[in-house]
Amino acid sequence: MSLLCVQRRCFHSSVCLLKKQRSKTAAEQRWLLRQLRDPYVKASHAQNFRCRSAFKLLEMDDKFRLLQPGFSVVDCGAAPGAWSQVAVQRVNSAGTDPALPRGTVVGIDLLNIPPLDGAHFLSSQDVTDPSMHAKLLELLPNRQAHVILSDMAPNASGFRDMDHEKLITMCLSLIDLAEKVLQPQGSLLCKYWDGILTRTLQEKLSGVFGGVRTLKPQASRKDSAERYFLATMYRKPMK
Ligand SMILES: C[S@@+](CC[C@H](N)C(=O)[O-])C[C@H]1O[C@@H](n2cnc3c(N)ncnc32)[C@H](O)[C@@H]1O
Repeated sequence: MSLLCVQRRCFHSSVCLLKKQRSKTAAEQRWLLRQLRDPYVKASHAQNFRCRSAFKLLEMDDKFRLLQPGFSVVDCGAAPGAWSQVAVQRVNSAGTDPALPRGTVVGIDLLNIPPLDGAHFLSSQDVTDPSMHAKLLELLPNRQAHVILSDMAPNASGFRDMDHEKLITMCLSLIDLAEKVLQPQGSLLCKYWDGILTRTLQEKLSGVFGGVRTLKPQASRKDSAERYFLATMYRKPMK
């Protein structure tokens, strides 16, 4: 399915669903209305991004310049592919600007990720499964990445503490992934839901990265527990 189809289908199904909403719950109605009024949803349609999350990465990257032309990027939890779209533009992995070095983007997700020019996708793959690492290394130049991105999230159960713990466990698995693929001085940007184990994750990251910052981009909904850790200056453990 083409990118335009993915977007049109999302938008039209939102509008159609809203019209048919008589039978839906009030909560579902509110969610749809919020989607239709959200300026980032509108902007993602206008700018051909697969979803609004693109604006979170754009904002964080504008501020911290993580993604440079020529860099290799691993995008964990990449579906439907909006962060990968941003990464492809910023590292020039589609070779759009021949004057700049050409980077690499590899996206991984449990779900299918529709193809994108300039990105390699490992669909139906679990980032937390070490057997996936070999496939990933084969796609990275020199078997190394400059940046690991993770916008991974488990299916929310509605039990806040449980969901928080699950996502923190997934984030902790990124430290093992970093050991395999991240080059010294590399960076990791990962989403978490704030809660009692936030400090544990921050301390583990501080153990192997020179700097760890907490970010809450404007595009991240104010009422959400969503935050990002930006960990920089990776210190690869000696073997
Ligand atoms: C919020 S979405 C990511 C959106 C994406 N950053 C974008 O801009 O299009 C979270 C994704 O994490 C994926 N995910 C959750 N657990 C995962 C795992 N263990 N391995 C790989 N992907 C996972 C989900 O399938 C889902 O597609």
